[in-house]
Amino acid sequence: MAVSIKSPQDIEGMRLAGRLASEVLDFITPHVVPGVTTEALDQLCHDYMVNVQGTIPAPLNYCPPGYTPYPKSICTSVNHQVCHGVPGSKVLKSGDVLNIDITVIKDGYHGDTSRMFPVGQISVAAKRLSDVTHAAMWKGIEQVAPGKTLGDIGHAIQRHAEGHGYSIVREFCGHGIGKVFHEDPQILHYGKPGTGMRLSPGMTFTIEPMINQGRPEIRELADGWTIVTKDHSLSAQWEHTVLVTETGFEVLTVSEGSPDWQRLAAA
Ligand code: MF3
Ligand code: CO
Ligand code: CO
Repeated sequence: MAVSIKSPQDIEGMRLAGRLASEVLDFITPHVVPGVTTEALDQLCHDYMVNVQGTIPAPLNYCPPGYTPYPKSICTSVNHQVCHGVPGSKVLKSGDVLNIDITVIKDGYHGDTSRMFPVGQISVAAKRLSDVTHAAMWKGIEQVAPGKTLGDIGHAIQRHAEGHGYSIVREFCGHGIGKVFHEDPQILHYGKPGTGMRLSPGMTFTIEPMINQGRPEIRELADGWTIVTKDHSLSAQWEHTVLVTETGFEVLTVSEGSPDWQRLAAA
């Protein structure tokens, strides 16, 4: 399928959706504490999206071919869970580290972003994995410019993660995004420089590396959604939605509480 090029009007819509998605993460941050359940986080985010923002939680009832409808409004992936963790009765405890992944729809446009959250006091190893994954996402983002290739993005991420002794999950990737949640192109988080599709201004896609402390292999749980590491090692993920501009990139999933503010100010 052809990759869609967003019009100036589309880009305005994507900026708004992106900011709102990021603001859900800002909103939920103080609630991520020992003793809270992941379903309580889901309920809080759902109510904020629907009642405060007037956005639609894109995951709710999302049903790609071969899947059952996703039952919740956000994804919460704890410790060895890689992605698509389904919120439930699990009580978070000090030392847990989780990814919260938010996708909102506003005026028909999608904004998709995730961050890692420490619960109470986390281990040095968990902090390092989260920090290296965040930096790896940024290595990928920094490759984004007209004329660069998808392989340039993947290679930068892979090099950073593997250079720190971690492994890249290969079964899931970033994706084009706009009026459609998941559209072409696929953004692999590994690759060879100079290979793959060339980037053009007006493309919008996510970069969302999943990086494991141990082996790269994954397994799907019986709920049909939650992905875990096969070896039960820790996994981390960060995600932004980005736009290819005439000169480079613009990160669309930005808000007051973005932990990336230093990098965003420099961009
Ligand atoms: N937000 C996820 C992504 O980054 C997709 C979640 S699909 C869901 O692409 F149904 F699990 F929510
Ligand atoms: Co995504
Ligand atoms: Co996401």
